[in-house]
Amino acid sequence: MRLYITETRIVWEIRKSEKIDTYRERKMEVDRVQAIASLSKNVDTMPSEFIRSEDEQPAITTLHGVVLEVPVIDLSHSDEEKLVKLIADAAQNWGLFQVVNHGIPDEAISKLIEVGTKFFELPKEEKEVIAKTPESGIEGYGTILQTEIDGKRGWVDHLFHKIWPPPVINHKYWPKNPPSYREANEEYAKKLREVSDNLFKYLSLGVGLEGHEMKEAVGGDDLIYLLKINYYPPCPRPDLALGVVAHTDMSTLTILVPNEVQGLQVYRDGYWYNVKYVPNALIVHIGDQIEILSNGKYKAVLHRTTVNKEKTRMSWPVFLEPPPEHEVGPISKLVNEENPSKYKTKKYKDYVYCKLNKLPQ
Ligand code: OGA
Ligand code: NI
Repeated sequence: MRLYITETRIVWEIRKSEKIDTYRERKMEVDRVQAIASLSKNVDTMPSEFIRSEDEQPAITTLHGVVLEVPVIDLSHSDEEKLVKLIADAAQNWGLFQVVNHGIPDEAISKLIEVGTKFFELPKEEKEVIAKTPESGIEGYGTILQTEIDGKRGWVDHLFHKIWPPPVINHKYWPKNPPSYREANEEYAKKLREVSDNLFKYLSLGVGLEGHEMKEAVGGDDLIYLLKINYYPPCPRPDLALGVVAHTDMSTLTILVPNEVQGLQVYRDGYWYNVKYVPNALIVHIGDQIEILSNGKYKAVLHRTTVNKEKTRMSWPVFLEPPPEHEVGPISKLVNEENPSKYKTKKYKDYVYCKLNKLPQ
């Protein structure tokens, strides 16, 4: 029973009953956060499912006045040995770092941002054309990714579609509008592959393997590039809500482009810190699969996002994922008597199943 009755709440409840017909017609599951945000303009309340418990509320749990110096690494560094060391240190001690001079032209990044922003600004009906269905799996336009135990919701909508390799791409889930969406995403995917190949090489060398070994261990050229666009509309109570709740990514690596609105936070020593926005940098997250295959040497980073009262935040993470049937476990060269295996070896799809259903790995 909810006792949260305010002007917004009433409007919200009315809209909810209107939606019942829409639900029947279109089998839509939930209201988009974008729609809730447009109803919540100029008020300072929001539906109670977005209000976090005190141990999660950003206003209470964020360490203010400190800008966390997540390493910013210049990939054009000519001394490869130094670069390997910088990246290995960052992956070990932070699980997250930013890279600059990465070789992706600024224009390719601004086009990616431009076409994705235009898609989210289309009328609702046009976005719903590529909404997720029970059959579409992860791909498509949606709102809820994972049900939270206490029924809480994140202040975010999203779009998922694969961008590489060609046999797994399903253009059904790529926006047709704006017309340049496809070209911009293809161009970004092409450039991103070079960056990710280099990152795998440096990470591999950083734990004493040969350059090619780590990428091979996650599926080689069958590695799947899954793009997500996060859309965080302005939120009436950014002090109480979260965008994406605390998590580590299931992927090998995640390479993310944000827009200019601050929002990413990482957890370190008991506090949440803002990660500073660096124009045109890529934010690299170490995901669970790299932690596993490095047998814990590299650490998957716990992160979350906050939202903004006036501005829309958006981000474009690409999750580099092993093929579903591919088995991932600690690389045998990294396991010995002093360093016994810390993780199970299992198919990536089984790892995903356990993580999404909150089952032990
Ligand atoms: C995610 C995520 C961070 C961001 O979608 O997994 O962590 O900055 N996003 O939006
Ligand atoms: Ni994430």
